[in-house]
Amino acid sequence: MINFSDLAEKYQTPLYIYDFDTITQQYEMLKDAFKASKAILAYAIKSNSNLSVVQHLAKLGAGADCVSIGEVRRALLAGVPKYKIIYSGVGKQDTEIKEALESDILFINLESHAELERVEMIAQELNIVARISVRVNPNIDPKTHPYISTGLHGNKFGVDLNTAKRMYLKAKNSENLDPVGIHFHIGSQLTELEPIREAAVIVADLVRTLQAINIELKFFDVGGGLGVTYDDEVTIDPKEYSQAILGTLTGLDMTIMCEPGRFLTANAGYFLTRVMYEKQNDEKRFVIVDGAMNDLLRPSLYSAYHKIEAVDNDGETSPADIVGPVCESGDFFAKDREFPIFKHNDLLVVYSAGAYGFGMGSNYNTRGRSAEVAIEAGEDRLIRKRETFVDLVALEKEYMKSY
Ligand code: LLP
Repeated sequence: MINFSDLAEKYQTPLYIYDFDTITQQYEMLKDAFKASKAILAYAIKSNSNLSVVQHLAKLGAGADCVSIGEVRRALLAGVPKYKIIYSGVGKQDTEIKEALESDILFINLESHAELERVEMIAQELNIVARISVRVNPNIDPKTHPYISTGLHGNKFGVDLNTAKRMYLKAKNSENLDPVGIHFHIGSQLTELEPIREAAVIVADLVRTLQAINIELKFFDVGGGLGVTYDDEVTIDPKEYSQAILGTLTGLDMTIMCEPGRFLTANAGYFLTRVMYEKQNDEKRFVIVDGAMNDLLRPSLYSAYHKIEAVDNDGETSPADIVGPVCESGDFFAKDREFPIFKHNDLLVVYSAGAYGFGMGSNYNTRGRSAEVAIEAGEDRLIRKRETFVDLVALEKEYMKSY
């Protein structure tokens, strides 16, 4: 049991807490599901990019799925071996491509024909052979929130099957490109297996077509997307997931790459915030807390549900909105949910905050970002300091005019 009151006292609020033992359990569960096959679990760093979190996963044997050169640098800094790092994203800059190639990571996932040409050119300049993979957009509806759906032709991600084929042909005939993998990722917070299986069937068929023309791919990258329980969602069983994927690869000898983010970190994380005020606007009850949308954006951006509990307050409840101090009506963590009447400084725990929480934070309203704390084997330790006002103005101050 995590002692939220002690941690809030020790590190102040708002505060992120990550239970590293939960991350370990989630990692081992997924690893175990793929134990019968060659597989690399490349942690999707964007879900929680704290260096200590990435380092913890690296120690367990995870690779890294990155979407910017900043994330590639984080992965390397945290000790992820370069041969387990992959790099995706629709808009990689020349400087990012160059650095990724020089870093000699496992492969770059290409998301357009234009990008393939850019990578070829840069590899030529560097006089090296770039290992590449193509992100295929299989046009499958993943049945998730539209903002986190990525596998339909209406989404900006990946390329259609015909373009993918053209790209592989071009790569095969290039002296500076080595096509080693194929990739798809149809969306995030997926709770149904069937769309993933359908996508895998389509992509595995393309692998066979390519094999027939002597393009042998080694890595079958199935992306991330495994959903977690925030409320009462029934999620995909990791064993069924691996079986469904392996079932589409009969006759093919490939290493499976998987890019889990949320599955590893979401339910390992807690966000602590204290009540400042209660207020009533006519019939409507608001609870104003010290955390805000700049700390945890998911409720505002996706109307996402996060379970919220009062610590040490089991008084009689009535419906309330839990809101932050930011000057936006969209700044809320919960709407019309039952909560006890609070006193000043009462503590709330926001659950499932380990993925896409801190990382999507901002300094809006000149609010410093929260501290982050790890818990491992019952011990807590700071893994990121709370930002101060000095941090917030550090990159601007010297540019002010001196009157
Ligand atoms: N691989 C690729 C290529 C991705 O685009 C993503 C997530 C992942 C892996 C990891 O997906 P996961 O296993 O975490 O579902 N901010 C949103 C989620 C955005 C996901 C973007 N891509 C949220 O808070 O729900």
